[in-house]
Amino acid sequence: MKITDTGDLWWKNAVVYCLDAETFMDWNDDGVGDFPGLAQRLDHLAELGVTCLWLMPFYTSAERDDGYDIIDFYGVDSRLGTHGDLVELIRTARDRGIRVIADLVVNHTSDQHPWFVQSRSSKDNPFRDFYVWRADEPPDTSDQVVFPDQEDSIWELDETTGEYYLHRFYKHQPDLNVANPHVRDEIAKVMGFWLELGLSGFRVDAVPYLLEGAGGRDGNPDGDPHDYLRSLRSFLGRRSGDAILLGEVNLPYPEQIRFFGDGAGDELSMMFDFVGMQQFYLALARQDARPAAQALRDRPEIPVDAQWATFVRNHDELTLDKLTDDERQEVFDAFGPEESMQLFGRGLRRRLPPMLDGDPRRIRMVYSLLFSVPGTPVLFYGEEIGMGENLDVPGRLAVRTPMQWTAQRNGGFSHAEPDDLVAPVVTGGFGPEHINVAAQRNDPDSLLNFIGHLARRYRECPELGWARGEVLDQPHHAVLAHRCTWDDSSLVAVHNLSAEPCVVPLVLDDVGPDTELVDLLQEGRVTCSEDGTVQVPIGGYGYRWLRVVQPGSRRLV
Ligand code: NOJ
Repeated sequence: MKITDTGDLWWKNAVVYCLDAETFMDWNDDGVGDFPGLAQRLDHLAELGVTCLWLMPFYTSAERDDGYDIIDFYGVDSRLGTHGDLVELIRTARDRGIRVIADLVVNHTSDQHPWFVQSRSSKDNPFRDFYVWRADEPPDTSDQVVFPDQEDSIWELDETTGEYYLHRFYKHQPDLNVANPHVRDEIAKVMGFWLELGLSGFRVDAVPYLLEGAGGRDGNPDGDPHDYLRSLRSFLGRRSGDAILLGEVNLPYPEQIRFFGDGAGDELSMMFDFVGMQQFYLALARQDARPAAQALRDRPEIPVDAQWATFVRNHDELTLDKLTDDERQEVFDAFGPEESMQLFGRGLRRRLPPMLDGDPRRIRMVYSLLFSVPGTPVLFYGEEIGMGENLDVPGRLAVRTPMQWTAQRNGGFSHAEPDDLVAPVVTGGFGPEHINVAAQRNDPDSLLNFIGHLARRYRECPELGWARGEVLDQPHHAVLAHRCTWDDSSLVAVHNLSAEPCVVPLVLDDVGPDTELVDLLQEGRVTCSEDGTVQVPIGGYGYRWLRVVQPGSRRLV
C-alpha cells in the first residue's frame, strides 16, 4: 500500500463518534450542552481513539425534530454557543487529530424557514418552487410515511393557497424541491460555508428522499437523479479535496450500492451498513452467527475510495425494517419484548447494554465484532461506557439522554437543576451512579478502556478498513470467523455469539509452515500446521483478533 493511500483516504480507517452538543457537556450550567463544554471533553474523545467527530444538527431550528428541522442553514443554535465557539471547537479537535463533520439536512426545512414562509404565502411567490406543491388531491400515501405514529400522509393541504406540499417526514418539515436550480445553488452555498469554517464533510440526511425529486442535470425530469449526487460530490471535492459525504441510505444492498456511484465512486464516500446491522441483531438474538455471516457475504463490492460505516447503535430507533416480520419479532422478543421498548412497529428504542442485560462478555464481543468487520466503525456517544436508555422519555429521545461523566448529580453533565436539563438523565441500574466516565477511566478492566483498546488496535490494522473481507468456513453456527487481508497485513477474527466454548477449525490456504496467528487483544497465539489448518479455541461469547504472522514479518504484534 502506498503511504498516500492510507493518509489521504482518511475515512477508510477512521473511528467516528456521533454526538449532539446539546446533551454532551453543559459548560454554562443552563441545562443545555454546548460547544465550550464539548471542547472541554475533546481529550476524552482523543484518548478513546476517535478520529472523526460527527456533530448532529447544531443549526437554528424549530426544535420539533431535535434539530433536523432547520430554520437557518447558516445559523448556530444560540443555546449551544456562537459561530466563534464552533470554530474554536473545530480547531481544537484538529489539534487532537480529530476531523469534524456535521449533518447536512437538505431534504427538507422547518415550516418556519423563511423560504417556506414565502413559498406558502402565494402561488406566484418567487420561493413557491423551492418546495414541492400539487393542486390535485393526493392518493392515499399512508404506507409511505416515515413516522406513522404522527403522520398518515406525505402530502399536507395548505389552507392559504389550497394546494398540498410534500413532506416525507413530519408535516412541519416540507421537502425542498431539489430539481430547482436555485435550491441547488443554495445547498451548494450552505456546504461551501461550513467547509470554509473547517468541517471535513457531512453526514447527509435521508439521501434517497433527497434524490427522489432531483431529476437529472439541472433538474431535467427525465434525467438521472444520481447526476445531482455526483454534482454535490464534485462540488465538495473542488472546495475541499479530502472532505467526505457519509450518507444515510437505508436500502437493500443492490439499490444502495448505486449511491456510491456505479463503479466510478463519484457519489457518496461512505454509507451506513443498515442491512448488516439488522442481520447482526438477528444473529445476536438467535445466538447464531449465520445471518451476520450471510450479510457480510452479500455486501456488494464497493469502489476502492468508498467505505462502509459500521454501527450497532445510532440516534434514531434501532430500525429492523429490512427483516421479515417473523425475524423482527424474534429480535423484539429477545431484546425489546415490551411495547414501550418498540417504535413505529419497526424498531427498538433501547441501547445495547440493557438489551443484553448488561452482560459484559456479550457487550464486549459485540464491540469487538463492530471494530473487526471490514469498514469504519461509528460510535454513538455513551456507547464507550455502556450507557442505557431512559424509556420514560418519549420516542427516539429515549437514547438521547445526557452523557454520564461522573456519579454526581445530573451525571456531571450540568450543574443546573435536574428539572431544567434539556433531557432527563438515565435512572436505575444504568444511571450515572453506576455507569460513568470518571469511574471507568480509573478502572483498567472497564468497558471504556476496552473500547479504547479496540480503537487503537483497529487503527493499527489497515486491513480492517481496506479489505473486502472474507467469511471463513467452519462448522460452528454460533461462530463468525472472518479474515481481512490488505497488502502485507492479514487478520483473522473469530467471534462466538453463544455461551458455549468451542474449538474452531480454520483452513488458511495461503499460509506456509511456521505461520503463527498472534492475538492482538490479549496474550496468546496458535500455530498453523503445514497444510494451513489451525485450531482456534474460543470461550463463550469470546472474541479473538489474530494477526497472521508469516516468518520474517515485521508487523508489530
Ligand atoms: C433522519 C435522521 O436520522 C432523523 O433523526 C430525522 O428525524 C430524519 N432524518 C428527518 O430529518
